[in-house]
Amino acid sequence: MVKIHPSVLCADHGNLAEDIKRLENADYLHMDVMDGDFVPNFGLGTDSFTCVRKHSDVPLDVHLMIRNPARHIRYFRKLGASIITVHPEADTHIAGTLALIRELGMTPGIALNPGTSVETVKEVLPLCDHVLAMTVNPGFAGQEFLEFTLGKLAVLGELAQKHNFALCVDGNIDADRLQQLRPLGVTNFVIGTALFRDGDPAGMMQRIKDENA
Ligand code: DX5
Ligand code: ZN
Repeated sequence: MVKIHPSVLCADHGNLAEDIKRLENADYLHMDVMDGDFVPNFGLGTDSFTCVRKHSDVPLDVHLMIRNPARHIRYFRKLGASIITVHPEADTHIAGTLALIRELGMTPGIALNPGTSVETVKEVLPLCDHVLAMTVNPGFAGQEFLEFTLGKLAVLGELAQKHNFALCVDGNIDADRLQQLRPLGVTNFVIGTALFRDGDPAGMMQRIKDENA
């Protein structure tokens, strides 16, 4: 079963409450948090979380693109996170951070930049229930899919069976790309631009779900 995580970064922020209410059938809402340091952009903050939590019961999948994420795990729990995903490139003690996320009752996730190999994280994969493979360099929506990540996705697809984690992709995913990646073992899909660009994210999401039921 395919799980869809609409990327709230791509919603209409002048009309966020309405966009979010229409996404009640999403499996998760993907919340990109950026610090202007680990990535060259700023992302969703407290106000966006408060607005989303007020208008939706859909679980929040929080993608922390920030340095030293351990400092902020408790805060994002307070803001309503269900999954918290951290980058090994941004954390000196990634195993401790993943353990902390689990201790606090949330789902630990690890994100891999396009240039980060599976080898880098193989020791901590058993600590994760969620693996987020970036298919663009993190920081911005609407970028081009990086084809060289396909080999890594195939490897992660096999490991997902062994370690029992959900394999999620993030970066220029659309309906066609989803069809291409499913056979590799990808089950969870963050979709930003492709979902919101025609102004009917709920309809587009439902079409994708129906095609892949
Ligand atoms: C990129 C973010 C993504 C982004 C996805 O740094 O992590 O979640 O919002 O947007 P698209 O689907 O447009 O690449
Ligand atoms: Zn993301």
